[in-house]
Amino acid sequence: MKPRILVSREVFDETLALLAEHFDVESNQTDQRFSADELAARLADKQAAVISTSDRIDAALLDRCPGLKAVCNVGVGYNNIDVPACTSRGVMATNTPGVLTDSVADYTFGLVIATCRRVTEGEHYLRDGQWKGTYLKQMLGQDVHGATLGIFGLGRIGQAVAKRAAGFDMNVLYHNRSPLDAATEKTFNASYRTKEALLRESDIVVLLTPYSAESHHMIGAAELALMKPSAVLINVARGGIVDDAALIEALKARRIWAAGMDVYENEPALNPGFLGLKNVVLSPHLASASEPTRKAMANTAARNCIAALTTGAPPNLLNPEARR
Ligand code: DGY
Repeated sequence: MKPRILVSREVFDETLALLAEHFDVESNQTDQRFSADELAARLADKQAAVISTSDRIDAALLDRCPGLKAVCNVGVGYNNIDVPACTSRGVMATNTPGVLTDSVADYTFGLVIATCRRVTEGEHYLRDGQWKGTYLKQMLGQDVHGATLGIFGLGRIGQAVAKRAAGFDMNVLYHNRSPLDAATEKTFNASYRTKEALLRESDIVVLLTPYSAESHHMIGAAELALMKPSAVLINVARGGIVDDAALIEALKARRIWAAGMDVYENEPALNPGFLGLKNVVLSPHLASASEPTRKAMANTAARNCIAALTTGAPPNLLNPEARR
């Protein structure tokens, strides 16, 4: 008998076909997110799960699923998984690094340009029938080329953003928990700054830090107050890294010039304060959403799942100590 697995959200046919070669697959192709209770109930008789980053895997769920051996996230960020709780129960946890790097970096740049050059505001103006002709001071924005770009989190995706910044003649600053080696800094032409110095000096601040207890509200009122009044903040990392209420206040008061947001605290719920603001570009967690990349993410998660239950050595294992 084939092992039983759950696919918790809609995936591509090719992903299901890959999984079906090895497993008896129950899949949620209606793509309605399961409640915590329903997810636990459906996983109770499964050996593995291919899950989305909006499914929470915690100790309470794991205690209801004693046969579970692997949870395979379709996504690189894994703050939805309590990895220590998985490890202590012998459950392997995996993610999908690498396959989405360039798509997320492309999107980050798109959001930088859309925000600095007021692209979506211009579209709304046009669609609302407000355009009566072009004039010199119409919808003036900030330049991207030649600007100082401050990147929080110069990891894989941050480095791909820095590579794109070189084409725009930007001055790249970064902040990580500790500075990178000199050769890497040279490759990306990036200079290390403290958190405070990066906020003070940057024209555009991009957040690419993983979410954790440590990065929760890493950007709040105090940090926004350090930024230039002409500065732009871009969050493509995770909701909760920015204190959204504090950002809304700063945008309203024009303490910073604008923001571009792809992720939110408590998403898919959105702080309604964003909706009345013209100086924010909003998108619904789309940074990795190109068709080839989303296919690569789903298929990578599927391969992790197959390897977890066949060889016990999935390529993107987050907790090698969990192998049993
Ligand atoms: C990720 O991979 O973490 C993206 O944010 C998609 O959820």
